[in-house]
Amino acid sequence: MKKKIGPRPIIFPMPALLVGTYGEDGTPNAMTAAWTAICCHDPLCAGVAIRQTRLTFDNLMRTKAFTLNVPRTSHAAEVDYLGIVSGKKEPKKLAVAGMESARADKIDAPIIVDCPVNLECALVSQTKLGTHTWFVGEIVETHVDEDALADGDVIDVPGLDPLVYITSASQYYSLGKPVAKAYNAGKKFKKNG
Ligand SMILES: Cc1cc2nc3c(=O)[nH]c(=O)nc-3n(C[C@H](O)[C@H](O)[C@H](O)COP(=O)(O)O)c2cc1C
Repeated sequence: MKKKIGPRPIIFPMPALLVGTYGEDGTPNAMTAAWTAICCHDPLCAGVAIRQTRLTFDNLMRTKAFTLNVPRTSHAAEVDYLGIVSGKKEPKKLAVAGMESARADKIDAPIIVDCPVNLECALVSQTKLGTHTWFVGEIVETHVDEDALADGDVIDVPGLDPLVYITSASQYYSLGKPVAKAYNAGKKFKKNG
């Protein structure tokens, strides 16, 4: 028996990413975002839902650029701080969290150096849905720490140790164990191999 609990934002897990943008005076800013996704293969695009009250919203509308940065589990407290304090109240919030930024190569946004993966995104569209706007950016460059890479530029998940977010419990998690090989485990149900 299932219980209907009404509309809820429940998808497991969500990433806990940092969205990097520059302020009007060039100050780097980052906010935590769980409502994000990879949403197109060609051109390769990522999306993020940002509430219109965020400093990140103003910055993104102006610069048309943002970075998505994947933090490690060891940065849970820093990520949480960047998700509860606005750059409108604490313009130096990145520095307060002890996180370092650097200018992205191809866009006008900061990458968060402490995060092992950084995606540079050039804004391609924005859709106002209500309280939030869905921003889509083309991923024009990717930076990965070498200790998070295995042979052939494949991400080494234990080396990366990404932080994930469980919305209903308001809890940060680490990833669990692998359970099956993707694009493979389902083959047993295919009729012709
Ligand atoms: C775990 C977590 C996830 C969050 N996800 C989002 C999100 O997807 N979109 C959003 O607009 N705000 C999200 N927030 C809230 C913003 O990170 C927060 O309001 C932040 O202070 C905005 O910073 P800014 O004003 O400097 O841009 C999240 C906060 C936390 C703690």
